[in-house]
Amino acid sequence: MQKIRKAVIPVAGMGTRFLPATKAIPKEMLTIVDRPTIQYIVEEVVASGIEEVILITSAGKSAIENHFDYDFQLDTVLKEKNKTTLREELNNISNLIDVVSVRQKEPLGLGHAIWMARNVVGDEPFVVLLGDDLVRSAVPCCKQMIELYNRVGESIVAIQRVPMDQTFQYGIVEGVETEQDRTFKVKRMVEKPAPGTSNSDMAIIGRYLLMPEIFDLLEKTTPGHGGEIQLTDALLALSNRRGMYAYEFTGRRYDAGDKLGYLKAIVDFALENPSLGDPFRQHLHKVLSTESQNN
Ligand code: G1P
Repeated sequence: MQKIRKAVIPVAGMGTRFLPATKAIPKEMLTIVDRPTIQYIVEEVVASGIEEVILITSAGKSAIENHFDYDFQLDTVLKEKNKTTLREELNNISNLIDVVSVRQKEPLGLGHAIWMARNVVGDEPFVVLLGDDLVRSAVPCCKQMIELYNRVGESIVAIQRVPMDQTFQYGIVEGVETEQDRTFKVKRMVEKPAPGTSNSDMAIIGRYLLMPEIFDLLEKTTPGHGGEIQLTDALLALSNRRGMYAYEFTGRRYDAGDKLGYLKAIVDFALENPSLGDPFRQHLHKVLSTESQNN
């Protein structure tokens, strides 16, 4: 079994759902408590034993690359001012992991973005993490998938159950149970089915573990839903060719690409923060009790 060493993180999207906030900064740099969303994703990757991150970027995304880079000027200023703790914290970010970036020159879809990583990934299985999906769990979601891969040796998509009236927002999987806990053999999958056209509530969230054959299949994939080259369409072809598993991960997922999901992530992450949790909880209680008194 080949070791999973590389993670592809597509960050080329325009972030239109968060305009005007994302006019001049990438949506992946929006902050949750004290760090940008992309840092949570990279920390999950590091905690899962991955050695290299491949960012698929586009114009205007250099702030993400800079965030994980060493900043000599900033480091010198902090050193002169004896800001040792802050210096260490910043250097820890740049030492987290090796980061490579590849430009997606045209916005042709998620499938096309992943295909851009083919030369850097090469002939080995790898993981994909979408920056909009943040997962809080005792064992990182990516690690849960790698552990399952070590048992089943095939591609895996992470899923969660969603209400049937929301299936049109996701790639939806139909599958049959296996002997492995929370694991289904994929039978069919469809990207964003029209309401009422799917019987399954198993939605793909932004975590995938893929065999390198996906690149050949992506190359042959024609535009699908929304006129874009869809990863889900190539996944279906891969599942037909050599099998694939859908894994109901343990943990809580936040859609940080959606305003309400982003706010929920901020509140939950702040409540769990060791120094902010208690005063923030007290503040929330005050706000909510004033609100109920006024109603
Ligand atoms: C993408 C995938 C979709 C998946 C979703 C999870 O869609 O195409 O299959 O369910 O991520 O967040 P997007 O949300 O980028 O439109």
